[in-house]
Amino acid sequence: MPVDPQARLRARYERIEAQLAGLFEKNPDPISRMATAAALLHHKLSHFFWTGFYRLAAGELLVGPYQGPLACSVLERGKGVCWACITRCEPLLVPDVESFDGHITCDSRSRSEVAVPLMGGAGQIAGVLDVDAKRLDAFGQTDVDGLTRVVALIYGR
Ligand code: SME
Repeated sequence: MPVDPQARLRARYERIEAQLAGLFEKNPDPISRMATAAALLHHKLSHFFWTGFYRLAAGELLVGPYQGPLACSVLERGKGVCWACITRCEPLLVPDVESFDGHITCDSRSRSEVAVPLMGGAGQIAGVLDVDAKRLDAFGQTDVDGLTRVVALIYGR
């Protein structure tokens, strides 16, 4: 077992990715896969307080499968972290949600956040995987890399 915390986290993401790849062989449905990914990530990574997907549907960003406290059902268009992730089509690390202009608060206990774009089967943006933590600056590049590999599996084969 690696002692460096970042190496441990990387190793954990690798195990999660391998487990999901196996589970996804049995079920290609993207919504089922999102639900499975949210559950596994949420329960394997202790810094995850809210873990889930927002899906683009007819120009709206609607809550998808998630784990954690009750979340906003619809995100006001063009506002907040998830919409910024969609618009820029790149991962966003938010060390302090209060410093992010327009941040949408679904639960006041969330202090930091990471969002990665979810790409659909035709290469279009389909939504985001969003994760919140109760402490400031809880996420780093290891999380971005790990979550990016996980979302790539959702619409993968
Ligand atoms: N904070 C997000 C909203 C979703 S929740 O964190 C679950 C945002 O600003 O888009």
